[in-house]
Amino acid sequence: MSYEKPSYENLVADLKKLVETKNCGPILIRLSWHDAGVYSTGKLTGGCPNAAMRFTDGGEAKFAANAGLPTVALGLLNPITDKYEGFIGHADLWALAANVAIEVMGGPKIPTRFGRQDAKSSADGVDSFVGRLPDGDKGGDHLQQIFYPKGFDDKDIVALSGAHTVGSNHLDRSGFDGPWTEEPLKFDNTYFVEMLKKEYKPETTSKGASQFRNSDTNTVMLASDLALLEPPYRQYVEKYAADQDAFFTDYTAAWVKLQELGCSGLRDTL
Ligand code: HEM
Repeated sequence: MSYEKPSYENLVADLKKLVETKNCGPILIRLSWHDAGVYSTGKLTGGCPNAAMRFTDGGEAKFAANAGLPTVALGLLNPITDKYEGFIGHADLWALAANVAIEVMGGPKIPTRFGRQDAKSSADGVDSFVGRLPDGDKGGDHLQQIFYPKGFDDKDIVALSGAHTVGSNHLDRSGFDGPWTEEPLKFDNTYFVEMLKKEYKPETTSKGASQFRNSDTNTVMLASDLALLEPPYRQYVEKYAADQDAFFTDYTAAWVKLQELGCSGLRDTL
């Protein structure tokens, strides 16, 4: 960690160094996604990226869907959170950290806007993740039930799911087990390429979760991933497998929208 006075350039440099030295890009992406992804309209309302998960006395930090985020992800970010306290808000830091991670891992350069309002206590979070964050053992209808009330369409669902090109499932967090791709620290379109190419067999993990494994390469897919091979999603899987630039373009648009759900008056600079 460098000790220059806080500046945007130093902050980005520190985040890059964190991602490179700890190989923690994937969990930082998941942190930003779950912070923002609780947003919903319709039957469920409210929710926004507000870093409510940092209050560990209850609320979002205790959601089963967030397992590993308050402990592992926030633990990794802690030195940077402390160093830049007062310079950048928590939710803005989480959004920026994810975008630095995506770029460091070879993905698109995604603009971050600033001005998210941080939660002041766990009570400022939403009550439950049910109906707000998706379950990995469910199919295509469930994806629509979760993502449509956030303002996303079928194309967005496929593009956003492409983030599973990085990272891994952890038995002690979700109960699922294994990485989606053979290079889980590289942000590219491999998730789509492999999904179309490989054969997956159903299995049950030692935690009782149902998933699908390619035994030749030990990569896995969840039911929610393989649902994308069916209509109306498959056309986008085929497009992104053939055209990484198209994936990056559509991912960027959907991801920026996700990171800004429920926010207003965001600024282009800190
Ligand atoms: C479409 C529905 C989705 C489902 C059902 C789902 C489910 C999951 C599950 C079960 C895990 C494993 C957590 C663990 O055990 O550590 C995970 C990890 C991850 N998810 Fe998703 N997810 C979805 C969408 C997304 C979206 C929209 C993004 C971001 C755009 C995303 C990014 C990630 C990343 C990067 C990881 C890896 C974290 C790590 O390696 O620690 N996911 N997801």
